[in-house]
Amino acid sequence: MRQVMTACSDVDEARIGREASPWWQSLNGKWQLKLWSSPDAVPNTAIKTDLATTTGWATVAVPGNWTVQKTGDLPHYTNVQMPWPLRPPETPAENTTGVYRRTFTVPKHWKSRRTIIHIGAAESVHALFVNGAFVGYGTDSRLPSEYDITDYLQAGKNTLAIFVPRYSAQSYVEDQDQWWMAGLHREVFLESRAHIHIAQLHAHADWDADLGVAKMNVAAYVGVTDTNSQSPLDRGWTTRSWVETIDGKRLGKVHVAKVPYRHIQPYAFSGHIATTTFDVPKAQPWSAEIPQRYRLLCELLNADSEVTEVVAQVIGFRRVEIKDGLVSVNGRAITIMGVNRHDHHPDKGKAVSVEDMRQDIITMKRANINAVRTSHYPNDHRFYDLCDEYGLYVIDEANIESHGFNTSLCHDPRYAATWLSRVARMVERDRNHPSIIMWSLGNESGYGEHHDACAAHIRRVDPSRLLHYEGAVFHAGWSDGGKNVSDVVCPMYAPASALDLYVTAKLGERPLILCEYSHAMGNSNGGLADYWKVIDRHRLLQGGFVWEWKDHGLRQTLKNGQERFAYGGQFGDHPNDGNFVADGLVSPECEPHPAIQELMWVHRPIAVEQTGWKMRVTNRQSFHDASWLHATWELSLDGEIVELGNWSPQVEAGQSALVDAPTNLLEAKKLNGEVLLTVRWFVKEATLWCDAEYLVGWDQVVVRAATAQRLPKRSSSEDRADIDVLLGGNPRLNLWRAATDNDGFKLMPQLASQLGVGGSALWNWLAAGVNTKPANSLVDHTCDSYVDADGAVVFDHTVVVPESLADLPRIGVVFELPAGFDELSWYGRGPLENMPDRNSGAVLGIWNDEPDELPYIVPQEFGLRTDCRWMEIIRSRDGMRLRIEALNPVDLHMSAVHHRDEDLFAAADVTELIWREALTVHIDVAHRGVGTASCGPDIDPRHSIAAGTYRFAYRLRLLSASDN
Ligand code: GAL
Ligand code: MG
Repeated sequence: MRQVMTACSDVDEARIGREASPWWQSLNGKWQLKLWSSPDAVPNTAIKTDLATTTGWATVAVPGNWTVQKTGDLPHYTNVQMPWPLRPPETPAENTTGVYRRTFTVPKHWKSRRTIIHIGAAESVHALFVNGAFVGYGTDSRLPSEYDITDYLQAGKNTLAIFVPRYSAQSYVEDQDQWWMAGLHREVFLESRAHIHIAQLHAHADWDADLGVAKMNVAAYVGVTDTNSQSPLDRGWTTRSWVETIDGKRLGKVHVAKVPYRHIQPYAFSGHIATTTFDVPKAQPWSAEIPQRYRLLCELLNADSEVTEVVAQVIGFRRVEIKDGLVSVNGRAITIMGVNRHDHHPDKGKAVSVEDMRQDIITMKRANINAVRTSHYPNDHRFYDLCDEYGLYVIDEANIESHGFNTSLCHDPRYAATWLSRVARMVERDRNHPSIIMWSLGNESGYGEHHDACAAHIRRVDPSRLLHYEGAVFHAGWSDGGKNVSDVVCPMYAPASALDLYVTAKLGERPLILCEYSHAMGNSNGGLADYWKVIDRHRLLQGGFVWEWKDHGLRQTLKNGQERFAYGGQFGDHPNDGNFVADGLVSPECEPHPAIQELMWVHRPIAVEQTGWKMRVTNRQSFHDASWLHATWELSLDGEIVELGNWSPQVEAGQSALVDAPTNLLEAKKLNGEVLLTVRWFVKEATLWCDAEYLVGWDQVVVRAATAQRLPKRSSSEDRADIDVLLGGNPRLNLWRAATDNDGFKLMPQLASQLGVGGSALWNWLAAGVNTKPANSLVDHTCDSYVDADGAVVFDHTVVVPESLADLPRIGVVFELPAGFDELSWYGRGPLENMPDRNSGAVLGIWNDEPDELPYIVPQEFGLRTDCRWMEIIRSRDGMRLRIEALNPVDLHMSAVHHRDEDLFAAADVTELIWREALTVHIDVAHRGVGTASCGPDIDPRHSIAAGTYRFAYRLRLLSASDN
């Protein structure tokens, strides 16, 4: 294992990269594949004979998972449980095994050199054959294996056969919560290496923040593959290295280092390692905020001073350390606004391309995400290139999860070497990337001596980064637990209150970063702002990684032509854990779910709040000042903008300042109505990940709160025919919502008891008949309705919830609007769906949109807009509109979607979901939060609906296009 780097013949090639090198050849493309039912069933002929025997084999794409390439062997989803009921290291009798084949020819100019094959990854394990001969066997389905195949080659056409069993003894340490796939899902290529070549290049780029000095340490490990060679590695070989800008402008000198050669005393010879350390003038540091990169070039020269090859590595100068007790980069504490990311593509499974990865990263950057945990395995090497380039801090995680045998395998000596090699190989491959700030020893694999061994290894080979391992903290405790293997306390799903207690009760000294929190399954991420209130309060709390980035739905077309994103069980896979695999912030196609709005806000780079008649502006970044942004402000009266302008207070990174408000707040408060000041921050100039004027942050200050008004007077008129005709009678009392994934797993009730996760509110509701019984029979309800002087119909409800029904889904009314109503306008929180415990970042304003379509894989409650003062539902055809005005309280939660609650609840996926032309409209005085009980804390009690009396009033008016 080494860094992924290709030797080039000159500097120009090295700057471009491997495509320009004469010594690199891709083997991606069409391969032949045949599957058998088990490794033993594979006949010798599949490997031994020439290509002619592959007639009748399938043609598949490499990189690719055969499980998504119409081979008949399908994906299988399990979380903790293994897909078969055996014990390590046993493998199932049914174990689909593929043989991949293709031919290749080696370029003539590679002749007197060595030919290396790089197999990017194979799930589960692989054995390599060249021209029928066994070359080697490799494990770790998320790291490359390389083989020197020179001695197996023949002139002309050569045949490769790669034997890949779907499951192996290694599957027990690859038991992550994700799809089990199979095949060669990462790139395959050939490289030609000289007998004497740069085998490894350790490039350590350090930044001394106190001195402002960039220091480069280069260790070139010169490899010698042919000891009988005519030109042995002898006196006189050197390396020349220098650092240049990405455009190729050299910074400072070229540094020559001698390649040690004497090995007459082998026991005293430490290797052909040419080492050099030098300062790099004018270099700037790397951080996720300002990802300044450079290129290190290293030439190898023979005794005649001829350049024999050149390699390049992109680097960034930075120092990661615990400083003053905090995780610091370049001397400053950072805040992790992170997300967990799996490789996933709805059609390609694990075979994600550079463009797919780039799309993920751009979408992350746009959500103010600054960190990724590569849950739960090393990614394609190009993922880290992108993180270096776009600016993301990375926790690089070893491909180790023994969740099904959580606390035993980490003590099983048969698996000791597996542990160590997975960690050691990851570190060796990825060590030159500036983006990686921590190494993670894996996920959910107990805590044992294997971890201690891995940590000791890393602390020796790369002391420049921190260690992360949740299992140690979980099994050994937050205070002193697992200090050998984790420099941070990195719990998963701890409630905000526990974080607060960790600091206030001084439970530990290590910085705390949640490795997973805010489980994004369906309509979720309730309580995000509560987490960040606590995180912002204590320096020792340095952020966290939301679970998780993407829904792992796989596109599936049913016999009748309908399409859906399939989850566990929908491929006939048993056992399975259903839709627990669909728990992302974005859809399988990288379409953000509405919760991204809240996430973006809790991650905003600059926060603004009112303090007296002034504003407190806090720069939450560690390195950037505010000069890359500009702000606008607007003052609104009852939603209508009355004053606006530009604003650009300057605040240094990490600082907070009290500044004048952009307008006279004292005067503004005298306005008659609801007065809000909204500040928005935009990016001044286009970046790699956004256009100029991209909105990155906002805050809203209530200058004068809305006040409740008396209900309008009754008029003598009783003419409400238009409303009655439209609605078909009075709005119905309603207590039910189509359960969210957090309310309870409607599709897999058994999961909660098996895993100890999942909400239970749903089961109480079903037991009480909230979804089936008329709401009026469950609670005391009175409703007074009358026509007011404007001709609007006023509804005044009183609902008394008994103690036995506390914690209802919602209290409100529902009605349907006939086909044709297709636009919404509202004065409330928006613009996107928001929930009572996920609306701190949802701005109060007048918004216009069409009714939402279901954003989640499993149908459930969606589309709500909280705190609506009014909403208009418009028939664009003729401008006719129904106006709903909250009277008491001043705001009510509202939604209008094309699905009834019972339709949403009854459907397991979109193919079962009824879509109606009619709009189902909800007006709620109370709506339960969403919390994150699908894996983590349920709602905060203040977002649950207590027993008691709820009074609410609103009025409905039917207006035509010409009415105001
Ligand atoms: C964690 C685990 C993740 C995932 C998540 C629930 O325990 O580390 O891999 O299973 O829970 O979605
Ligand atoms: Mg797990």
